[in-house]
Amino acid sequence: MEKKQFNILIKEKFKNINLIAVSNREPVVHEYLGKKIISHRSVGGLTIALEPIMRNLNGTWIAYGGGSADKAVLDKNNEIKLPTDEESYTLKRLFLSKTEIDGYYYGYSNSVLWPLSHIVYKQPEFDSRYFEIYKRVNKKFADSVIEEIKLMNDENSKEDADNIIWLQDYHLSLAAKYIKEYDETLKIGIFWHIPWPNPEVFSICPEKKELLEGLLSNDLIGFHILYHCQNFLKACEWELEAQVNWADYLVTYKGHTTKINPFPISIDARSLYDFSKDMNINSDDFNNLKELIELPHQFLALSVDRIDYTKGIKEKLMAIDLFLEKYPEFIGKFIFLQLGVPSRMHIKSYKEYYDEINSMAEQINWKYKNDDWYPIVLFLKQLDLQSYIYFYKIADIVIVSPLHDGMNLVAKEFIMSNTDYKGMLILSKFTGSSKELTEAILINPYNIECFADSINNALELDDEEKKRRVSKMQDIILDNDIYDWAYNFLSKLKTI
Ligand code: UDP
Ligand code: G6P
Repeated sequence: MEKKQFNILIKEKFKNINLIAVSNREPVVHEYLGKKIISHRSVGGLTIALEPIMRNLNGTWIAYGGGSADKAVLDKNNEIKLPTDEESYTLKRLFLSKTEIDGYYYGYSNSVLWPLSHIVYKQPEFDSRYFEIYKRVNKKFADSVIEEIKLMNDENSKEDADNIIWLQDYHLSLAAKYIKEYDETLKIGIFWHIPWPNPEVFSICPEKKELLEGLLSNDLIGFHILYHCQNFLKACEWELEAQVNWADYLVTYKGHTTKINPFPISIDARSLYDFSKDMNINSDDFNNLKELIELPHQFLALSVDRIDYTKGIKEKLMAIDLFLEKYPEFIGKFIFLQLGVPSRMHIKSYKEYYDEINSMAEQINWKYKNDDWYPIVLFLKQLDLQSYIYFYKIADIVIVSPLHDGMNLVAKEFIMSNTDYKGMLILSKFTGSSKELTEAILINPYNIECFADSINNALELDDEEKKRRVSKMQDIILDNDIYDWAYNFLSKLKTI
């Protein structure tokens, strides 16, 4: 839906809305560069998707401040208005100690819940000390929400305002429980941005009951797809013997009822399309980017991923190796550009994954290189959005091959940037986005032989067929963009 329509519908539904969103990751980081303070946006689907909504609704966003200058720019309530124009939101930061970050973020969130939720055969590192700190930090986030609610009630700025608390993601499974202990009438919803595993996998988690009880303190729980909702309902039956109403997707536990619903997340599709359409890729502004791919080539394949073992980057490199072996006519003509920032590098498995990717790329390049050509370019640093769009526009294929992913917004960003219908999308079946983008070339990234063949198939597609498929996918994304996602979630929460 258009931004304008979103605002009208929200006004109809809520006379006044005080929206408090809560996430671990902050949308903007402030850092010292010498004595100067600079800011940059964070990487990851959650913050990028939520940002336009928070701007539009002038909401308050509570998140952990991890930048070196994050404290220095705040007022006495630990808040800052971002950006400074009319459409702004308030970022309220809270701060965590090194022990808390190790136990809650690197530990329980990313060494337990992340591998537990993504079925990629990575064993979660259960450690009860992580969970103790995770609980403590969830309480800290809850306290920050309560502080904000008190401030809002004191200011009493918006008459008859609806206070809506919108928790984000697996870092905050327990926060609703602590907030409800303060005021059980507050409306709280959580959106779970990653998959929810099947009940067999979930059952191995030692803290499964506490996690479910914490989540069931919310009034609404959103997942990307129906399958994740079903997995969650089954877990409630198996682990808590909670009363599950399968017709309406409701769970009643200890007298409180929670609605479970799918809300496939998306992007600000119209703005991205318009921005891309107006972009002149021949401008000198992009000369430094062109240098990244100055190797001789006729075909460019591209990927953009956080460097994370769930993203299937190793399998993709194996597929490219096999593709060049099976289709040697592409040697000297095909290059693959992998863009992506290192992620969660204090976790051993992430650091090892990063090193493995670098060494695999080196080996494949050595195997095929000739005088002035090699097939793989890794550029593992953050770029701005315009640079990603530049590459999306010139790529012949974009490969999105996670082993498991809740949604994957890169796939949607590429399709909406592809205003000349030049490129084709190869997309893993194990992403939420593959349920909507069925016109992509869908692959099982574990099946390296078929993956390699799909690269050849994508390069062989004729222009008319690409245009048909890409424009159909653009319509699908425009039909359920980030404003639909937010409106559907918030209006459902309001009517509960
Ligand atoms: N992104 C980025 N730099 C990177 C990788 C990703 O800016 O190195 C952006 C990308 O454009 C998208 C988001 O981060 O907007 C990634 O969202 P996605 O859902 O694909 O994956 P996530 O990283 O959240 O698991
Ligand atoms: C995924 C998670 C988000 C997270 C993002 C980036 O999208 O669902 O919660 O913010 O990855 O990961 P990071 O750990 O850097 O915040």
